[in-house]
Amino acid sequence: MSASEQKVAQVKALLADAVRDFSQVAFANSLGAEDMVLTDLIARFEPDIEMFSLDTGRLPQETYDLMQAVRARYSVPLKVYFPAAASVEAYVEKNGVNGFYDSIDQRKACCYIRKVEPLKRALAGKGAWITGMRRDQATTRGSLELSAFDAEQGLHKFNPLLDWTNAEVWEYIKLHDVPYNKLHDRFYPSIGCAPCTRQVTPGEDIRSGRWWWESADGKECGLHVGKMSLQKL
Ligand code: ADX
Ligand code: SF4
Repeated sequence: MSASEQKVAQVKALLADAVRDFSQVAFANSLGAEDMVLTDLIARFEPDIEMFSLDTGRLPQETYDLMQAVRARYSVPLKVYFPAAASVEAYVEKNGVNGFYDSIDQRKACCYIRKVEPLKRALAGKGAWITGMRRDQATTRGSLELSAFDAEQGLHKFNPLLDWTNAEVWEYIKLHDVPYNKLHDRFYPSIGCAPCTRQVTPGEDIRSGRWWWESADGKECGLHVGKMSLQKL
C-alpha cells in the first residue's frame, strides 16, 4: 500500500469508528478542498453520516456552483443551514451590511450570527461531528487532535484529515475526479465568505487571504476556536 493509500485507509477507519461509537454523526462541510475529499469518502463509504453546510448568505457564487455540483454527483444529501433572519437584520441595522470591516468585534459578531449560531442548531442532538481541518493550515490549529471531546459544542469531534498535506488533498481530488471550487484555480487556497476572502500570491500562507486585515494568530471565526477547549481522549 502506498503512503497516500495508507492515509486514505486511516481516514476510512476513523469515519467507521465515528459511526460505530456515536449515533447521529454529522460532517460540517464548507466545500473547501479538504471537505471535498471527505465528501467523496463519506458518500462512498459512510453514507449514514449527515452532511451539512452553513450558508452565511455571503458565500462566493463559485461555492454555490459547487453545492449544486455536489448535489448532482453524490446521493448523500447536503443539508444547508441559514442564519436567523432577525439577527442578520438587527446586525445590519446597527452596523451596516459590511460592518465587519469596521472592527474585529464587529467581524466576530457577524461570524457569530452567520456561522456559529447556525452551527449550534446544526449540531443539536448530534452525537459527534466531523471537520476537514488540517494541522498545518494555521498556527491556531497546531494542537488539534484526530479525535477529541469538544467541550464548547458538548460533543465529540473528529478531524480525520489532520495530518494530511495540501499536496495529498489535491492528489486525492485529481485521482478521484472530485468536484472542487473553481476559485482554487485562481489562487484562493482557503475560501470562506466572499467579502472576507481574497486571492493570495504564490508562496504566501494559505490562510493569508482570509480576514487579511487581522493578525494570523486570531483568524478564526469561532466555529472551532474561541471559548472552546479540546481535551484529548
Ligand atoms: S474557518 O473557521 O476559517 O471558517 P475553514 O474554512 O478553515 O474554517 O474550515 C475549517 C472547517 O470548518 C471545515 O473543514 C468545516 O468542517 C468547517 N466549516 C467552515 N466553514 C463552514 C461552513 N460554511 N459550513 C460548514 N462547515 C464549515
Ligand atoms: Fe461575516 Fe465575513 Fe464572518 Fe462571513 S467571514 S460571517 S461575512 S465576518
